[in-house]
Formats: sequence, structure tokens, C-alpha cells
Amino acid sequence: MKPEEVFTPRSHSINQYSYVERKLHLKSLEEGFKGSKHIFLHGDSGTGKSWLYKDFLKKNDIRHLTVNLTNASRLGSLNQEFENTVNRELKKQKTGYSITNEGALHTEGGLSGWWTGVVLKAKTILKRNKQTSYKTLAKEPFEACLEYLRKKSKKKRAVLVFENFESILRKEELLEELGNIILLLDDERYGQYNIKILIVGTPSDIMYFFSNYPANGPLSNRVEELTEVSRMTEDETEKLFDHGFQSLKYQVENRDQIISHLKWVTDRIPQRVQEYCLILARKGESDKKLDANDLTSCDQKWINESLSQTYTAIENVMNSRETSIGRRNQTLYCLSLLEKNEIRLNEIEELIRSEFPTKTEGKAINPSAILTEISKAETPIIKRNPKGDAYYFTDPKFRMCLRATLVKEGENISKREISEIK
Ligand SMILES: Nc1ncnc2c1ncn2[C@@H]1O[C@H](COP(=O)(O)OP(=O)(O)OP(=O)(O)O)[C@@H](O)[C@H]1O
Ligand SMILES: [Mg+2]
Repeated sequence: MKPEEVFTPRSHSINQYSYVERKLHLKSLEEGFKGSKHIFLHGDSGTGKSWLYKDFLKKNDIRHLTVNLTNASRLGSLNQEFENTVNRELKKQKTGYSITNEGALHTEGGLSGWWTGVVLKAKTILKRNKQTSYKTLAKEPFEACLEYLRKKSKKKRAVLVFENFESILRKEELLEELGNIILLLDDERYGQYNIKILIVGTPSDIMYFFSNYPANGPLSNRVEELTEVSRMTEDETEKLFDHGFQSLKYQVENRDQIISHLKWVTDRIPQRVQEYCLILARKGESDKKLDANDLTSCDQKWINESLSQTYTAIENVMNSRETSIGRRNQTLYCLSLLEKNEIRLNEIEELIRSEFPTKTEGKAINPSAILTEISKAETPIIKRNPKGDAYYFTDPKFRMCLRATLVKEGENISKREISEIK
């Protein structure tokens, strides 16, 4: 097997050679599906939301159809994307039929499957009464979508997945359309298809985005927000590593040291873990061997391949030369040590003092001023929270990149050059 067959950092479909079950999240999905509400699954990009729900739906034999909200945003309408979704599915089945803007059905070729019956019936009615047939029969795109999914699923449970919720956050009209759809499922006409909605996206607090929506109250009663999907557990990260390198039949020396570094630099974000493992695997490909000596060059290669823009942003915010105190670089290093997202001023000050005791002894530190400066860079890596009492990383990859980039020797901080990569 080749490294890229086992480690697939951007693959849409689950790769069995490196897949790890995430029990806590599967349980949370299970609870969500038991309830009567629709479901909102959220977490940063690359944390594994899509793999997670795909695994869950497969394990539970729940059928699904995916509507891409990025596409809806591009087209300016959810309806258009419903049509595309059904048409794409029909094309896959090679029925040769499509629904058009008006929702009417069109013949393009041969017939097959259950859809044939629907189309033939439609055509008969259309012939009989040209004026009214379209209204009575051809469904508007959302209902056509529900009908298609229900028929495809037969009596099994079915869910309509709305992917990439973040794509419509600034599009009031689309948010409203989505809100309407959720409420419409209570209506008998739509409810008869017995289909649940699963919304997937990066932001938390879905109701915040519907706050301008008139029926916000009823909506919040109909959607359940699940536990945030974030980094994997330590155990899951180890399993991913072991499972992958066993699939590749590699001999792994210093396993614990490599895994500990892997967990540290990637912050246990699944996509990043896969990226890093792919680099490790390629490095050891010739003799099917891994050892811990190569970790520094793997860091550099990883930054170069996956985080180069992030690296530039960090480079820009660092002190260009190591000043006698070097407070800014010390602060950046301490930011990389934090486990949680929130950056509190007193915690950062404590960290700076404990990591750099000689350089801070008897000196005042003004973490607020330093963090403000860092947050005002052209590409800000941190941001102040609305309350103004803490900061957070604008993107988790900044923390990873800081971890892979900054080197502490004694009390001096320097950065690794990515141009040194062989
Ligand atoms: N359970 C898992 N086991 C192993 N690898 C995983 C797992 N979940 C995700 N990954 C890895 O992380 C990558 C990203 O996962 P996924 O596409 O599910 O993230 P996402 O949260 O949906 O991201 P986005 O918001 O960008 O769509 C996958 O392609 C895969 O390489
Ligand atoms: Mg996804």
C-alpha cells in the first residue's frame, strides 16, 4: 500500500485504513437522532464533522441526501440547489429525467426504477390538463427533494443533510429560506415524508444567526445543537497513527516519542494528524521505517505544504530580531503552550514568568499591551473577545503553526526556517 492510500487528509469519503471511531460524538449523534428535533453538528474545519456523520448514518442504516449550502450561496437560492441535488441523483441513476426551475419534470432519455412511475404519471396528468397538472403534480424543488429521498430510502430512516452552514451566514435571504424549511417540516404536506434535517457547519450557536428571523422562537424548539466536534482524544490520535502505520506495515521505532510530538504539533485535529502522518509515511517509504530523528524536517515540510500562509502571518508578527527582552516572541511561544481556546491575560503573564524566569525577574510585564499589538497585525492571529477580558486564536492552525515553528533554547526563542527543507 502507498502512503496516500492510507492517509487521506482531504478525502470526502471515509478511508478505512486510517479511520478511527469517535465514540463520544457517535453517542451524541445517537442521542440527537433519538429525539424529535432536527440536528445541528458544528466544529472547526478539519475536525471531522463530515466523516463523523457519514460513519454514524452508515452504521445506523440511515439514508441521506446532501444539500451543499456553499452551492446554494453561489446560486443565490436554496431551491436551485434542491433541484441540482435531485437532478444529480437522478443522473447517477441514469433515469434521464430532471426537474427544471418551475419544478416540472423533463424527459431526456430512457427510464428506470421507481422514478419512472412518478414521471409517467406526471406526463399523463400533464397531457390531460396542461393548465393545472404542473401544480397538482410536479413538486416544488424542496418537496421533490423530500419525495426523492423518501422513495430512495423506502421505509428506512432518512435525513437531509445541509453541509457548510457557514457559507450562508451573511445571506439573510438564505437563512430565512432555511428557517422556513425547518418550520415547514411540521406541516403535514412536508411532514408526511418523515425526514429529519441535519445541519453541519463551523460556527456554534446556530440560533444566533436566526436572530433576525421572525419565527426564531419556534425554530429554537426544533433544532438541537450537539456537542462541538473538536480535537480527537489522545487515545483516538494514537489509534489513527497505529492503525495507519500498521496498514502500511511500517516498522516504527520510538513510537511514543513520535506520537507525543504528533499530538502536540497537530493539536489532535484529525485533518492535521492525517497530513502529518502522510509526511511521516512518505519520509519512511523507502525502507518502511519510522524513527524520531526526522521530526524537525517533518515539521518544516508540513508547514511548507499545509500551513505556509499561516507561517507568513506568524513571521510578520514576530520581533524581527531577538531583542534583549524579546517579550513579543516569548508571548507567542506561551500562546503555543495553551491547551484551551481562551487566552486570559493573567494566565499568559504567569506562563511568561514561569517559562522565562531570568528575563522577567523584577520586571513588569504588560500582557494586555503585547496581546493588543499582536491582534492588530495585518493578518491577526488572535482576537479580543466581545467582553474584552480575553483573547482567542482567530484560527486553530495558528497555534499548531506556532508549535511547529518556535524553538526555545534556554530562554531564547527562535523560529525554524521553512526554506531549510530538503
Ligand atoms: N474519525 C476520523 N478518523 C481518522 N481521520 C479522520 C477522522 N475524521 C476526520 N478525519 C480526517 O480529517 C479530514 C477532515 O475531516 P472532515 O472532512 O470530516 O472535516 P470537517 O469537520 O467536515 O471539515 P470542513 O468543515 O472543512 O468540512 C478527513 O479527510 C480525514 O483525513
Ligand atoms: Mg465537512
